[in-house]
Amino acid sequence: MPLVTTAQLLQAAAAGGYAVGAFNCNNMEIVQAIITAAEAENAPVILQASQGAIKYAGLDFIAALAKTAIGRTRVPVALHLDHGTSFEQVVRCVAAGFSSVMIDGSRLPFAENVALTKQVVSVARAVGISVEAELGRIGGTEDNISVAEAEAFFTDPDEAARFVAETGVDALAVAIGTAHGRYKGEPRLDFERLSQIAAKVKIPLVMHGSSGVPADAVREAIRRGIRKVNIDTDIRQAFTEKVRAVLAAAPDEIDPRKILGPAREAAVEIIREKIRIFGSANRANAV
Ligand code: G3H
Ligand code: 13P
Ligand code: ZN
Repeated sequence: MPLVTTAQLLQAAAAGGYAVGAFNCNNMEIVQAIITAAEAENAPVILQASQGAIKYAGLDFIAALAKTAIGRTRVPVALHLDHGTSFEQVVRCVAAGFSSVMIDGSRLPFAENVALTKQVVSVARAVGISVEAELGRIGGTEDNISVAEAEAFFTDPDEAARFVAETGVDALAVAIGTAHGRYKGEPRLDFERLSQIAAKVKIPLVMHGSSGVPADAVREAIRRGIRKVNIDTDIRQAFTEKVRAVLAAAPDEIDPRKILGPAREAAVEIIREKIRIFGSANRANAV
């Protein structure tokens, strides 16, 4: 199966009423775990590289790892830039063979976010890749802001409709109560707001910061219009806990393969579990 765009994956997800998992990767083991899990569940999947991943591994390494894995698989996969920071970075990802980008102008005033996103959409259209944008602000759990403060940054449904009409993006990341990283308590999602956005915005919606969101809440968000679910922290946690367990059981172990191999398997398991929650298992042929 060739590399596909996120738009292709999310259109099929909208038609089928499920969501596609977008999993962050930083290294070979996690790239392999994502593809292995997608194959085991016969699911479409999105491999995404964050700013941290690009800094850590290098854009060329991430792209080469992803393309090698994608070239060998039969499930449809999109290669996506997560939280892209600039037009220039998007162009670098296009050159590296990405099929999808996010441009995150959520920190900018509305008009500037629209202008930056439109610029990215114009280049993406020219080369046939997809664009995700963000409106409202999805912070980090470590920001320590109160619920009331966070709500001030939630996505406004009318603004979302205007943003999508003005920019022509393929997917929109919305702020509805999730945050990046590990939650201290249980996150409370504003489902009513999500439904209001979905009623006004006819493109697929994206949920960031989805690690640690209870499965029932994720399913409810999908019922209300979420079509792409971003997961990073839960993979990091499963991977690192296994590294700790292996080293605790065998403190003298020095072979990285014997430490990272089991961690890769733990990542496969958590990703498979997420794919089943998202309803995208056995949907590889729907694309
Ligand atoms: O955007 C959320 C990701 O978890 C980014 O994390 O930049 O540390 O890789 P990272
Ligand atoms: P988590 O790390 O909270 O799963 O968030 C991932 C994400 O939204 C990547 O863009
Ligand atoms: Zn995110």
